[in-house]
Amino acid sequence: MNYRVPRTRKEIFETLVKGLQRLEYRGYDSAGVAIDGNNNEDKERHIRLVKKRGKVKALDEELYKQDSMDLEVEFETHFGIAHTRWATHGAPSAVNSHPQRSDRGNEFVVIHNGIITNYKDLRKFLESKGYEFESETDTETIAKLIKYVFDNREIEDITFSTLVERVIQQLEGAFALVFKSIHYPGEAVATRRGSPLLIGVRSEYKLSTEQVPVLYMTCNIETVNNIRKPRVQRLDSSTCLQAVGNKAVEFFFASDASAIIEHTNRVIFLEDDDIAAAAGGKLSIHRVKRSASDDPSRAIQTLQMELQQIMKGNFSAFMQKEIFEQPESVFNTMRGRVNFETSTVLLGGLKAHLKEIRRCRRLIVIGCGTSYHAAVATRQVLEELTELPVMVELASDFLDRNTPVFRDDVCFFISQSGETADTLLALRYCKDRGALTVGVTNTVGSSISRETDCGVHINAGPEVGVASTKAYTSQFISLVMFGLMMSEDRVSLQDRRREIIRGLQSLPELIKEVLSLDQKIHDLALELYTQRSLLVMGRGYNYATCLEGALKIKEITYMHSEGILAGELKHGPLALIDKQMPIIMVIMKDPCFAKCQNALQQITARQGRPIILCSKDDTESSKFAYKMIELPATVDCLQGILSVIPLQLLSFHLAVLRGYDVDFPRNLAKSVTVE
Ligand code: G6P
Repeated sequence: MNYRVPRTRKEIFETLVKGLQRLEYRGYDSAGVAIDGNNNEDKERHIRLVKKRGKVKALDEELYKQDSMDLEVEFETHFGIAHTRWATHGAPSAVNSHPQRSDRGNEFVVIHNGIITNYKDLRKFLESKGYEFESETDTETIAKLIKYVFDNREIEDITFSTLVERVIQQLEGAFALVFKSIHYPGEAVATRRGSPLLIGVRSEYKLSTEQVPVLYMTCNIETVNNIRKPRVQRLDSSTCLQAVGNKAVEFFFASDASAIIEHTNRVIFLEDDDIAAAAGGKLSIHRVKRSASDDPSRAIQTLQMELQQIMKGNFSAFMQKEIFEQPESVFNTMRGRVNFETSTVLLGGLKAHLKEIRRCRRLIVIGCGTSYHAAVATRQVLEELTELPVMVELASDFLDRNTPVFRDDVCFFISQSGETADTLLALRYCKDRGALTVGVTNTVGSSISRETDCGVHINAGPEVGVASTKAYTSQFISLVMFGLMMSEDRVSLQDRRREIIRGLQSLPELIKEVLSLDQKIHDLALELYTQRSLLVMGRGYNYATCLEGALKIKEITYMHSEGILAGELKHGPLALIDKQMPIIMVIMKDPCFAKCQNALQQITARQGRPIILCSKDDTESSKFAYKMIELPATVDCLQGILSVIPLQLLSFHLAVLRGYDVDFPRNLAKSVTVE
């Protein structure tokens, strides 16, 4: 954040720490802050770094323990940075956490999301110049590199943003960076490539512009050794954002809007390679290369997100809150899109491309984790409604295989965050090959939503729990809505379409009914929570339910869990079955019912004790069930929306009973912006 409003150090800490806590779901193994050491009157500025292993709470406590920290000191202009880490290079520890510094004097400090893939070469170069490294991180290289560029500058008054511009020309990989330096007190410089970064703007006064013009610079530097004389950039007021009359304004740099939403909902999304500099209450953006979108300005956008949406309310965990929000979130996904009277569906974001989509040779649906499962869950109904071949792909594997993609393919990218690196790379891969790209995301302004040709916003509301729940059901519905829109003029499909649309209409009520089983599921969890393993088996429309249920269980309970295709039972998994092994079977009244009964027989014949998720009127399965969870029935292709919810609840209760922190599963992060 960058202030041009008087603030005490305590207020500055509170803003930074609160912001980190809102971002903690993205990483939480260590955290750190950098703030100014002295007040404005002091000539000799220095930067105070405080870093701590563990969650943000530990850092917060540490800040107040530091006795030399005067909390009441007031700053007129101040710029502080803070970071919560999810380790990629180097174990979680105070020294590996961010901000990373250029030297013991903290001349330059930097926070970083992403991975620098050429950091080893850069580190070697810098070590050969006498720089001593203290951490194992790739990020430290950036801090040292900026000092190297600064120390070797040819002109005395080089600007901070010029330094950053030279630094990023040496970096390969993905990054969102924010720099602070004692040489540029009160100034903030931020940049990104491949990792998200936005700037919140808060001012009670009118702003000079709503569209910040981007300044293009031409400065080519090939190698670290061969640095040319830089252009020093002077900004006049026409290229800056400031409050009219030079009044007070505050800028907040963040990787995610949830960190700043309590201060402002007015944000600017930076593009790759933009360099944003805030100093003296003015914000300017410049870049060396023309942007992909080639937009000469960055607009200030107003976000609809409310603070209350990212608060836990009466629930004990975000995940639990998000599970219980599903009657509303699925409704919001359909709101204004499905007309239940006329049985029509209109997805505004796809309208302009519908003709082109209808002409395509196949659909490829790509995602990771839960988002991939939403693709698996809807594959069959998409094949049925679009009458096109549908491939579903895990983004990483899709890229590993150099999968052939053609100009007449339509590629869907499913991502809650819209920032998952693997999915984003797959998007660029398909774009390069001329395919039409469609984003299905939950985050307005995210990289995937901006880089795709068109898309659907799933409107599930912010999802904070690391284990995705309401995003899954909303992704599911978004894909079904797409299928319905595609099939609007197919005469033979009209009855089926109407049946599905009626099913969509009754979903919110049926979800409420499923949620009322919570106590029953809690009791089941009481029986299961000491187990080491839990199998989840089904087929057809509910295979994805099993994959997703098993993923939830392993993510937050750390129990081994496997989603098994019932058709594959006899080809291996049957060997796992005995009296002890807990197995959940998802058996619904759909075309796979009879085949699921066969699987059930095979399990019980080996003394297996199946816990069955089945329809309320299923008298057949009940004969063999060890335990049953009865669910309301809906249209076969939508049943997976209802049947996944008991598994979401079960994983939640298991994790709580096992004593784990549901919203912060070990080793995981909500948004994985590294490959
Ligand atoms: C991470 C999360 C998963 C999520 C996956 C895809 O691995 O831990 O819960 O499903 O990323 O995320 P996305 O934001 O692309 O849906």
